[in-house]
Amino acid sequence: MRMYDVIAKKRDGGTLNHEELAFAVNGYVAGDVPDYQMSALLMAIYLRGMTDEETAMLTDVMAHSGDMVDLSAIAGVKADKHSTGGVGDKTTLVIAPIVAACGVKIAKMSGRGLGHTGGTIDKMEAVPGTRTSLTQEEFFKQVNEIGISVIGQSGKIAVADKKMYALRDVTATVGCIPLIASSIMSKKLAAGSDAILLDVTMGDGAFMKDLDGALELARQMVAIGTAHGRKVAALITDMDKPLGHNIGNSLEVAESMAVLQGNGPADLTEVCLQLASNMLVLAGKGDIPTCRKLAEGVIADGSAFEKCCQMFAAQGGDTSVLRDADKFQKAKYSYELTAPTDGYIYKNDVEKIGNASVLLGAGRIKKEDSIDFAAGITMHKKLGDYVKAGESICTFYADDERLFAAAEEMYRGGLVIRSEKPSIPPLIYARVTADGVEKF
Ligand code: URA
Repeated sequence: MRMYDVIAKKRDGGTLNHEELAFAVNGYVAGDVPDYQMSALLMAIYLRGMTDEETAMLTDVMAHSGDMVDLSAIAGVKADKHSTGGVGDKTTLVIAPIVAACGVKIAKMSGRGLGHTGGTIDKMEAVPGTRTSLTQEEFFKQVNEIGISVIGQSGKIAVADKKMYALRDVTATVGCIPLIASSIMSKKLAAGSDAILLDVTMGDGAFMKDLDGALELARQMVAIGTAHGRKVAALITDMDKPLGHNIGNSLEVAESMAVLQGNGPADLTEVCLQLASNMLVLAGKGDIPTCRKLAEGVIADGSAFEKCCQMFAAQGGDTSVLRDADKFQKAKYSYELTAPTDGYIYKNDVEKIGNASVLLGAGRIKKEDSIDFAAGITMHKKLGDYVKAGESICTFYADDERLFAAAEEMYRGGLVIRSEKPSIPPLIYARVTADGVEKF
C-alpha cells in the first residue's frame, strides 16, 4: 500500500477502509509516514469529510495506537467526563467529587490548558503539593480505596492523537467534526471508563460556534462510544460567557470549592448539577430527577466537598487552601478594568477573555512556559449585566504590573457596551443520547 494512494482516494471523495486508515495512522506513529503526507490526508478529510463508519474506524485505530487501560481491577462502574474546552470551565473539579460521593468510581485522566482554554491538571497543581502523575498501581489503589483519582493523561494513551493533534494545530485542520470526534473518543475509549459524559461546549469561546455543529459532533461521539459498548451521553452547554466569575488556576479552584460547599455562582452550580446528574444516570443510579436529588444531597450534606479534600490529600495536596481560599498564595498586583460608559455588557468575547488571562500568566504562550497559579481574572460584570461608567467590570491579578496593559487591550477588544440588553443564551441547549436528541 502507498500513502500517496490513500491521500488520493480521500482527495477524490472516496471512503477509506480499516486497512487504509491503520496504514496511515500506524505508519505516522512509527515515523514511516512523514508530516507532509499526514497533513495532506488530514486536509483531504477536512474538505471531504468522513462517513460515520470511517470515523468509528479511525477512532478505533487511534485508540489502539497506545495503551488501552483496563480498569477491571477497580470494582464497580467507572465514570468519566470530557469537555470540549472552555474558559472558566472548572466543572470537573466539582462534578467528579459529586459523582464519587454518590458511590460511582472516578478513575479519570485530564489534560492541561490549551490555547485560550484552561485544563483541570493545571488547576489541580495550583493546590500546593498535589501530584497529578501517579503510577498505575497508586492510581488503582486510590480509586479502590476512596473512589476517586484525577491524574494527568499518560503519554502512552492514544499516541497517534498526540502527534496528529499537534499537526492539525499548525495545518488549519482542527475544526473538523470527524477529526475532533475521533481525537476525543480515541482518548476516552483508551482511558477505559464504562460511562462517559461529554460536555460539548458551544459559543464564541468554543470549537463549535453553532448548534448544528455542536449537535453533529455530539451525535458522532455518542455513536462511536455506544458502538464500543460504553454508555455515552452529551450535553451541549453554552460558552458565550465563562462559567462562574473566576478565570485562572487557584481562582477557579476556590470557586469550585464554593460550589461544593453550596455557595458557588448560580450558573456554574446549575451546569455542574446537570452534568453530574447525567453522569449518575449513565452509571445506573436512576433517572434524571433521582440523580439530581442525589447530586444536590451530597452538596448539602458536605460529603462531595469532603470527597474532594480526600482526593487532594491522597495525592499530596494541601487541603487547607480548599477549606479556606484566603490561604492560597495571592498575586502581587491587581488592577480594576472599568467601564467607559453606562450600559449593558452586550458582547464579551470569551476567547479574548481567555487570552487576556493567558497574558496575565494564567496559561502558557509557549509550550515550555510555567504557569502563575495566582494570576487571572475575576469578572464582576458578565454578558447582559448593567454597568455604570467608572464601575469595575473585572479585576486582573498578576505578579508583574507590566502585564496589565496587554491583557486590558485584549479584554477590551472583545467588549461591547450598549444601551440595549442582549439576548442571553441558555446554559444548556440539548442532551444527545444513543436514543436521540432532546432540545431544551
Ligand atoms: N479536544 C481534543 O481532544 N481534540 C480535538 O480535536 C479538539 C478538542
